[in-house]
Formats: sequence, C-alpha cells, structure tokens
Amino acid sequence: MPEENRQFLLRLGGMSRMEQALVSLMSQQEIREWVLKYSSGYQELMAYYRCAMMSVETKFNVLTEALSLRYDRNPIEAVRTRMKSPESIVEKIRRRGFPLTVESIEENIHDIAGVRVICAFPSDIYKLSEMFLRQDDITLLERKDYFENPKPNGYRSLHLVLEVDVYQRTGKYTVPLELQIRTIAMDFWATLEHTLRYKVPERVPEEISDELHLTANDISALDQRMQRIHDQVEGIEDSQAHPIVFPPR
Ligand code: GTP
Ligand code: MG
Repeated sequence: MPEENRQFLLRLGGMSRMEQALVSLMSQQEIREWVLKYSSGYQELMAYYRCAMMSVETKFNVLTEALSLRYDRNPIEAVRTRMKSPESIVEKIRRRGFPLTVESIEENIHDIAGVRVICAFPSDIYKLSEMFLRQDDITLLERKDYFENPKPNGYRSLHLVLEVDVYQRTGKYTVPLELQIRTIAMDFWATLEHTLRYKVPERVPEEISDELHLTANDISALDQRMQRIHDQVEGIEDSQAHPIVFPPR
C-alpha cells in the first residue's frame, strides 16, 4: 500500500473511539454516507480488494476456457463475485470486538472480497481448488472444508482464504480474499437457507432449523448419487474411447 495511503489510514485509526461512538448511533444509510464522504482511504483500500476479486474471477474464466478445450465437460458452472457492504464490515468488526479503523479492517477482515465458484459434482470442488492453488501468485492462508466437515446446520462448501498478488502503479501488493467452492445443489440449499434465515427476525425456531438440516442431508445424498452416476458414465466413456492415431508424416 502506498505510504500516503497508510498515513491517511493511520490518521483515521486515531479516531477509532469517536468513530465507534458515531457508528453505534448511525443508521445503515448514514454509515454508507460516512464512508462515501469522509474516507477516500477506505475507498482506496476497497479498490485493492476489487482488483483481487477481478483477478481471481479472471483466473477461473481462464480455467473455464482451458478446460472446455481439453474436455467435453466444463466443471465450472458459474463464477460469482461480491464485495462486503460497509454495513456488514462494520457489523463484523464490532461483533468480533476489533477497533473500527481502516487499518483494523485491513488486518482483521479477510472476506471483504469474495469469489464463489459453482461446480457440478463434489469431486470437481477438489479438482478446481487444486488447479487454482497451483498458480504461484496465490497463497493459501486458511482452508475450511465444510464439505468434509459440515457445519452443525448442514452447510457444506469448501472455503479458502487466500492472499492474491495485485499489481498497482506503485508496485505489488498482497490482498486477502475468500473463495467458496460448492456444487450446484449445495448452492441451491445455501441460497435458500440464507434467504429463509434472514426472514426470521431473531432466533430461528427449532423445528425450522431441524427441517433445514434434514434438507441439507437430502441435498448431500443427492450430490453423492450424482457423483456415482458421473463416475459410472466416465467409466463407460473410458472403455469406449478410441485413441486418436495421427497418420505418419
Ligand atoms: P463470518 O463472520 O460469517 O465470515 O464467519 P467465518 O469467518 O467463521 O466464516 P465462514 O467461513 O464460516 O463463513 C463465511 C461465509 O460462508 C458466510 O459469509 C456465508 O457466505 C457462508 N456461510 C457460512 N455458513 C453458512 C450457513 O450456515 N448458511 C449459508 N447460507 N451460508 C453460510
Ligand atoms: Mg468469513
């Protein structure tokens, strides 16, 4: 990060108590305005995250091209990106008890930039993550395998916290990013579960969370059945494949 930015962010850092007091009184709209009006440093920091996100999105689009050429099936169904909103950043930093300064945001929140890759079969999750992590401008900081070890509510996905190299006018920077890789079926469940959870104002009633958990298990069983069908089809394809023999020159 350029020195002038760091200085600006440090100055903001000095105001953390006042900011905390202010923000606790602010509405979402006011927080948004505060961020837009006062903190060009914050804006600049966000630009770094957007660059990292674009870079990872492009990497998956490149993989899509490469895999489409090589195989008749492309495992990447969709690539989605999102930036964490200022309200969610403030909410998360307060929930975790960190100071509300731009420097602290930079240090403590690693999922401001997010990329989600949706694939067809569970085995694609690991193939894609391996292919991706082989690239040498990517560093793995943390791996949370909620596919192998689902969350108590049944949530399944592979989460990777990464550090991505981003090249700016003033040099190279490393920026954290959260990558989530999951199947279409897991994405279906997570999207609906998220929507339903946000409709319930406080605690989700037990019968609803139990029912959601059961649906997560059904989804997982479906994913496993589809994986078995996929493996069988691949077996048939392999046994019928004719090697391409080029005529001698
Ligand atoms: P956060 O404070 O939410 O970032 O928690 P964390 O740092 O422990 O991260 P974790 O890797 O558990 O989850 C981060 C992201 O994964 C969330 O922002 C969601 O996008 C997704 N996620 C995690 N758990 C669930 C879940 O139970 N349901 C749904 N729908 N999404 C989830
Ligand atoms: Mg997170």
